[in-house]
Amino acid sequence: MTKKEIKKLVNEAIQAKRFSQAKYSNFKVGAALLTKSGEVYSGCNVESSSYSLTICAERVALVKALSEGEVEFEALAISAKRGEFCPPCGACRQLLYDYAPNLDIILSDGSTEKIYKLHELLPVAFSNELLEK
Ligand code: THU
Repeated sequence: MTKKEIKKLVNEAIQAKRFSQAKYSNFKVGAALLTKSGEVYSGCNVESSSYSLTICAERVALVKALSEGEVEFEALAISAKRGEFCPPCGACRQLLYDYAPNLDIILSDGSTEKIYKLHELLPVAFSNELLEK
């Protein structure tokens, strides 16, 4: 991805954060998932009064894309608090890995980016390969 494409995806994640439903934690997160065909699916965290039902921004973006028939993914940008990088939680890492182990994960602190491969963030992962043996 070019620097310009990265900045564009990060900007979509920042915009998605505007819709965050985070009245319990006050921690707003936005995510933007780029498909191989160039479409972008955004997501924000959606919290519940029954706290454990909360869904992270990353999983919202992924489920939106999958449910529209997208199956090939390139990169996911994540934005939360200005000045802080927000790495995806363990549950999101697993679900993302199930669909895109090679995904580029772009963390933004509002001005700079850190980029990782998802498989670096979830080494020795459980995956469907084991189920198929
Ligand atoms: N959250 C995300 O949306 N993504 C992450 O990667 C970490 C956590 C949300 C869940 C909850 O609404 C709030 O941030 C605090 O945990």
